[in-house]
Amino acid sequence: MTPTTAKAPEDVTEGDPEWGRRVLMCSPEHFDVTYSINVWMDPDVMVDFDRAWRQWDDLVCTLKAADTEVETVPAAQGLPDMVFTANSGIVDGATVTPARMRAPERAPEVEHVCSRFEELGWTIEQPPAAPQEGAGDAVAFAGGLVAGYGPRSSASAYAGLRARHGWAVTALELTDPRYYHVDLGFCPLDDRAAMVVPEAFTAAGRAALAELVEDPVVLTPEEGAAFCANAVVAGRTVVMPHCTPRLGRELERRGFDPAVCDVSEFGKAGGGCRCLTLALNVELDRAAAPFTAGVVG
Ligand code: ARG
Repeated sequence: MTPTTAKAPEDVTEGDPEWGRRVLMCSPEHFDVTYSINVWMDPDVMVDFDRAWRQWDDLVCTLKAADTEVETVPAAQGLPDMVFTANSGIVDGATVTPARMRAPERAPEVEHVCSRFEELGWTIEQPPAAPQEGAGDAVAFAGGLVAGYGPRSSASAYAGLRARHGWAVTALELTDPRYYHVDLGFCPLDDRAAMVVPEAFTAAGRAALAELVEDPVVLTPEEGAAFCANAVVAGRTVVMPHCTPRLGRELERRGFDPAVCDVSEFGKAGGGCRCLTLALNVELDRAAAPFTAGVVG
């Protein structure tokens, strides 16, 4: 290689995705599986609390090693799912639209998270009129949101959010109970590429994603069910609960480095790495034409 074709270090990072650089997390101090609001949760299965702490600490270390800044919100007693901060709201710039949780068990989490956002100096927007479970069901992709509805969030919530904020929302119906939030079936890698779990979506949803995603990394049913798509993309590092050699090669071929963080204790509650984080550096476009990109119903 001649010096003129060699990449200077600053060029290597130039086109890197900027998201995943700052996240909000909540420690597993009060994490447990005490009720069942998705098919993965069985209150008869014991959580190994020490292991959960080690796994969460390891996730924090892995994110920090990938240059991600980690903010935290204090855990609250009696809110065992509060570790899954992805569900607490939708971030856009320095604003957060609080979730309206469908599950009454999770509803009180939102005010704790909003107080933390206030402390950080953020603007708290009006919550949607219908259930919408935050970034866990509305993932930023190419300036808009790829959103899920059915098991948790309502399609009507997205029409309201689109009208209020001008966000381009592609709302997709989720029908497989294993993929009850969209972030279990869809994970953007950059503006062109995303991991997709076909089983999570209807035929119409799959068609909409095929239109939207230039370079899909299609997961096998096994990879999907192992929550491989529930990943935090921190620059070029893909922090994921599980990876297969095949998927690892697909990611590497696109210039990403898979970093596996075993978060199996949180899998008992139906969550993976991404559910345990809420991305704070998200900028959405605000001039969307109403409903053009969306598949609703
Ligand atoms: N037990 C939690 C629930 O059912 C898990 C949340 C997972 N979060 C996510 N973003 N997929 O709500």
